[in-house]
Amino acid sequence: MSSAVSAAGRSTARYGGVQGGRRVTVRDIAAAKERGERWPMLTAYDALTARVFDEAGIPVLLVGDSAGMVVYGHDSTLPVSVDDLLPLTAAVVRGTRRAMVVADLPFGSYQASPEQALATAARFVKESGAHAVKLEGGHRVLAQIEALVSAGVPVMGHVGLTPQSVNVFGGFRVQGRGEAGERLLADAKALEGAGAFAVVLECVPADLAGRVTETLGIPTIGIGAGPDCDAQVLVWQDMAGLSAPPLPKFVKQYADLAGVLTDATRTFAEEVVAGSYPDPDHSYR
Ligand code: KIV
Repeated sequence: MSSAVSAAGRSTARYGGVQGGRRVTVRDIAAAKERGERWPMLTAYDALTARVFDEAGIPVLLVGDSAGMVVYGHDSTLPVSVDDLLPLTAAVVRGTRRAMVVADLPFGSYQASPEQALATAARFVKESGAHAVKLEGGHRVLAQIEALVSAGVPVMGHVGLTPQSVNVFGGFRVQGRGEAGERLLADAKALEGAGAFAVVLECVPADLAGRVTETLGIPTIGIGAGPDCDAQVLVWQDMAGLSAPPLPKFVKQYADLAGVLTDATRTFAEEVVAGSYPDPDHSYR
């Protein structure tokens, strides 16, 4: 990691060993694993916040189907469509110069067949400029991953608590406890074998995530998977204190954006009512 100063004058950290203005690639991600370097990933859904994260040095941004919840206000990721995510992904690509932008394939847009997965991924690459895609599942999506990788689309896997299967799990619960841990490890290995360049481990016991990380040659990206993963991801609104509680145990809030925004909103409203905004400094002569 090293430091640089962004166009906005803020000091930025560089993760994943990439210097200068070029985009992070799957080769950088692989090299970081070889060097044993940890790196951060965040979700992003619009150009302005993507730019902030890019300038702060976040090497990989995920346009997650969590947009269903934090952007569109649904109570799960299931209603999200390709048409919902395409414009958000395009905005995140436009807002960044350096981060690799990964688009989540929504529920129902890849499970049916490798052909369906390729048609969906091609839309993300061509219409939004995504650099890679993510899909959920273990053995059941291997054919999809092979088809995408052989067509030239880098794929990030996702095992453990895969939110698109919330109805099968009976809720958002920790996965991989007991014997299920061996199945999860086998799934993760199979994703690597099929050509995935990284794998998200969501809500799995920390010791299991450590074993998977040690076993795989590709990076693991933890979310609720303890400290031993190669990378960590959070939904940015959770990380920055904008999401409404209750939040999962693994979420750490690094700011109180809801508080800051509430104060700013109240002050704006009070000044409008009092007639003190706009003042001469904020008016045209
Ligand atoms: O949709 C999403 O945001 C995700 C991450 C939480 C990994 O899948």
